[in-house]
Amino acid sequence: MKDQIVIAGPSSQKLATKIAELLQARIIPTENKVFPDGECYLRIDVNEDNEFEGKDVIMVQTTGANSTGDQNLHITELIMMIGAVKRMKASKIRVIVPYLAYSRQDKVFRPGECIFIEELLRWIEKAGATEFYTIDIHAEEVLKKMSIPAYNLDPMEVLANNVAKKVNNAIVICPDKGAYERSRAFAKYLGKDIQVVQFEKHRDVKTGKITMEGDLPMSGKDVIIADDIIATGGTMAKAIEIAKKSGAKAIYAVGTHPLLIKNAVFKLLTAGTNEIIGTDSIDSAFMQVSLAEIIVKAIQSNSSIE
Ligand code: R5P
Repeated sequence: MKDQIVIAGPSSQKLATKIAELLQARIIPTENKVFPDGECYLRIDVNEDNEFEGKDVIMVQTTGANSTGDQNLHITELIMMIGAVKRMKASKIRVIVPYLAYSRQDKVFRPGECIFIEELLRWIEKAGATEFYTIDIHAEEVLKKMSIPAYNLDPMEVLANNVAKKVNNAIVICPDKGAYERSRAFAKYLGKDIQVVQFEKHRDVKTGKITMEGDLPMSGKDVIIADDIIATGGTMAKAIEIAKKSGAKAIYAVGTHPLLIKNAVFKLLTAGTNEIIGTDSIDSAFMQVSLAEIIVKAIQSNSSIE
């Protein structure tokens, strides 16, 4: 569509490029740095300050941690991108945040906490977003707090299509109660009559220590464990261990957002997974599935034909 411009945020350059290609839209990079005092700087690489006037601007910036483990930096850059485009009078500001940091802080777990995801979404909206898109958010409910159109896109079909080529006699494990609907959707796309088994996970809110229970003879089965986020790898590693002990033939660890912090990859591999499969919501060595098509489809279905 004419007049669409994609801005590639510092954290989503590959995905933004794919989105721009599919939309056949102009793509503009960003320039970023951190000053010695830790303050961050971002500039959208335009020649004139009026280049966005009246334009439909789509910005892509994921908020997973950068190489130094800092996800707040990517959030600050995102707000700077939105603020700059708003100041330059774009007619639409569509904000795509493939992985939305803080989405797990969506309720009060202990007295005195802030529900920070609500604050973050308010900030994004206040800065000037006119539409908001994210993928497989931890709990969708929170998007209802936004007063602009807000979409949670479902990657289960594209993930299942990728995994379907690798497995035989498959069973899907969901590592906790919250992941059940997601795992069922995944299994439905994987094939007819694929069984979904839920493990019971408990995370101590003070120490973060995870315990998990689940058992089922999995002898000769290809086990797929599907979760939204693989962060420290603790949840996934526990589920892999149980599957391994139960006789699984092969184990596939599938995560929409493979944050893979610190030694998470090591944990998953030593627990016994055969493969780690993630999307390009986060740049990693495991991004086997691209979200570009589902994002473009959503943008197009919210665009008038010109
Ligand atoms: C929690 O409920 C999420 O769905 C994931 O299971 C969790 O965030 C994964 O985190 P970690 O890899 O650190 O265990």
